[in-house]
Amino acid sequence: MKVVAVLYPGGPNAQSTPELLGCAENALGLREMVESRGHSLVAITDSGAELDSHLSDADVIIATPFWPAYVRKDRIDRAPNLKLLLTAGVGSDHYDLAAAAQRNITVAEITGSNVVSVAEHVVMQILTLVRNYIPAYFSVIEGRWDIGHIASRSHDLEDKTVGIVGMGRIGQRVAARLKPFDVDMYYFDYRRLSTSEEQVLGARYMALEPLVARCDVVSINIPLTPTTDGLFDRRLLGTMKRGSYLVNTARGRIVDTDALVEVMESGHLAGYAGDVWYPQPAPADHPWRNMPNHAMTPHTSGTSLEAQQRYANGIRECLTAFFDGNPIDRDYLIVDGGRVVSPSYSYAYE
Ligand code: NAI
Repeated sequence: MKVVAVLYPGGPNAQSTPELLGCAENALGLREMVESRGHSLVAITDSGAELDSHLSDADVIIATPFWPAYVRKDRIDRAPNLKLLLTAGVGSDHYDLAAAAQRNITVAEITGSNVVSVAEHVVMQILTLVRNYIPAYFSVIEGRWDIGHIASRSHDLEDKTVGIVGMGRIGQRVAARLKPFDVDMYYFDYRRLSTSEEQVLGARYMALEPLVARCDVVSINIPLTPTTDGLFDRRLLGTMKRGSYLVNTARGRIVDTDALVEVMESGHLAGYAGDVWYPQPAPADHPWRNMPNHAMTPHTSGTSLEAQQRYANGIRECLTAFFDGNPIDRDYLIVDGGRVVSPSYSYAYE
C-alpha cells in the first residue's frame, strides 16, 4: 500500500522539536510503523503538482486541516487505487465527501483530538477582542502609552451576551469555559441539548437569527458543509448586533469573505477573530489580513503539541486497523460504506 501524507513544513523546528509530529519531516511519527509492515509512506508539503504526481498509485491520503490538501472530485477520479482519506485533526471539508461516498472511499478524522485546544483558543480570542488586547500590545512594542486610545474600546466580558453557533464538542467546551465569566449565554444547533445539559453549561437555546441579533459575542463552531458554506453572508452579518464581535474557528468559508470586510470597515462589527481562512494557506493579499479590528491567527488553534500527539495517535490507530483489515473506530468515520455517516455532516448530504 502507498500512503501519501500532505503535511505542513516544520522547518528548523522539525528536528529540535520532535513533538512537532504534524509536520512533513516528522510524518506523524508513522514512518517506522508503515514501513515495517511492508508499505510505503511519502510525506510531502506540496498539495499541488507533487500531490497530483502521486494520485495514480496512492491507496491512502492523509492531510491536516491546518495545511489542507483539497482532494476534490477531479483528484478522486485520478486516483484509481484510493481507498482511505484520513484527516489528522477534525473537519474533513477539504475532501469531497459526496465524491468519496460515490467511489466507496472511506473518510475518517480524529474526532475529539483537538477540541480542548480550539475551545481554549476561542476563549483567548474572545478576551483579546473584548479587552482590546492587540492595540494595547502594539502600543507597548511601539513605545507608546495610549490609555485613552486603548480603553475607549476595552470592555469587561462579564454580563455580556454570548452566542455559540454549533453546540457540539467544541461549542460545549467553549460554553463550559465561559460560564465562570458570568456571561448570559445562548446557543443554536440543529440538535437541541437536553434541559439538564443546558443547565450544566448555563446556555439557553435560541434560533440563529435572533441569537446573532441579540449577542455581543458570537462564536461559530459548526462544520463546513454545503448547508453552512457562506451561512454568514451579507444579510446575516447585517443582522448581527451593531458593535458585536465574531469569532470563527470553524471554517473560513462559513463567513463570506467580502461581506465580512464590509461590516468590519463600516464598524458594524467591532471585531473579528478566529484562525480559519479560505483558501489555506491564505495568500499574502487575503483581504482579512488587513481589515480593521481583527485578531486572527493562522490556522493553529487545533494543532498545539498536545493536539498533535492525539491526532497522530488516532491516525496510527486508523492506519493499523486499515492494514489489518479491521474496521475503523465508528466515532472517527465521516464517510463509510458509500454514505456520509457522521451525524454532524450527514444531514447536509441526504
Ligand atoms: P461536532 O461534530 O462535535 O459539533 C458540531 C456541531 O455543529 C454539532 O452539534 C452539530 O449538530 C452542529 N451543526 C452542524 N451543522 C449545523 C448547522 N447547519 N446548524 C447548526 N448546527 C449545526 O464537531 P466539533 O468537534 O465541535 O468541531 C466543529 C468544527 O470545528 C469542525 O467541523 C471543524 O470544522 C472545526 N474545527 C476547527 C479546528 C481548528 O483548528 N480551528 C479544530 C477542530 C475543529
